[in-house]
Amino acid sequence: YVVTSKSYTAVAINAASKAGEWIKSKLGTVKQLGMKSGAQDLVTEVDKGAEQMIRKLILTHFPDHHILGEEGVEPGPQASADALKEALDEDYVWIVDPIDGTTNYVHGFPFYCVSIALAYQGEVIVGVIYDPSRDELFVAEKGKGCYVHGNRMEVSAEGRLSESLIATGFPVGISSTLPMNMAGLQHLVPKVRNIRSGGSAALHMAYVAAGRLSGFWEIGLNAWDLAAGALIVQESGGSVSDTLGRPYDLSVRNVVASNRKIHSEFVEALKEANATGLNG
Ligand code: IPD
Repeated sequence: YVVTSKSYTAVAINAASKAGEWIKSKLGTVKQLGMKSGAQDLVTEVDKGAEQMIRKLILTHFPDHHILGEEGVEPGPQASADALKEALDEDYVWIVDPIDGTTNYVHGFPFYCVSIALAYQGEVIVGVIYDPSRDELFVAEKGKGCYVHGNRMEVSAEGRLSESLIATGFPVGISSTLPMNMAGLQHLVPKVRNIRSGGSAALHMAYVAAGRLSGFWEIGLNAWDLAAGALIVQESGGSVSDTLGRPYDLSVRNVVASNRKIHSEFVEALKEANATGLNG
């Protein structure tokens, strides 16, 4: 599938930039901290306001399209899976995370972003990630490459895990996967150059695409954390799969993204560590 309507991408860019600027202008003003599944799982009035803003903008242009937004779904894996299944009954589905990295946003740690993807019949065809702190806009269209401010992005060149800078994250509100996170870290730390955990899955994916990270893995994510980033990585020459090495689709919760060259070594290391996640 090749994106034929430039307007999809234009609307995604417009929505991500507008929401991102607004989010940044509200930094440090959050008064009411909402907790979803617990004290680690935060939502603010800024997340909700940004999602509303993005929804309105998309629906003005495409009133028949479906929108799957993080803040419109109850917490928990079952509710997410149900919402995704329902959304995928429609041809065109926009998948929106108004702030990926809400914890960072609340603490003023400048590593958060807006993530917007458009899927057609279950396949992501447009992915846009906007980082307001660095004013970086990552844009990918299926079959057309990925660009940051007009410059084509390319994944990094490392060919071995031992030369790689890897990122990971810790899923919020799911303590059952903690032993797997620890096992993954224990096994990988001696094998790689180093590990980072920035706190935004979408931005970690964008950084893999930009060649700033060699790879990223995390277990227990949702479609809105990954959809835009997955296309952005693929269109930059990288690979995206689940932690067992099966190709990425919107239902993947346990993800591995990489510069492609280290992918199989990376997946094998997670398998050896038994760190592939609950439904991986
Ligand atoms: C979170 C971030 C974080 C990841 C969490 C996600 P949110 O997204 O991507 O890096 O570790 O699992 O929930 O909730 O800030 O949109």
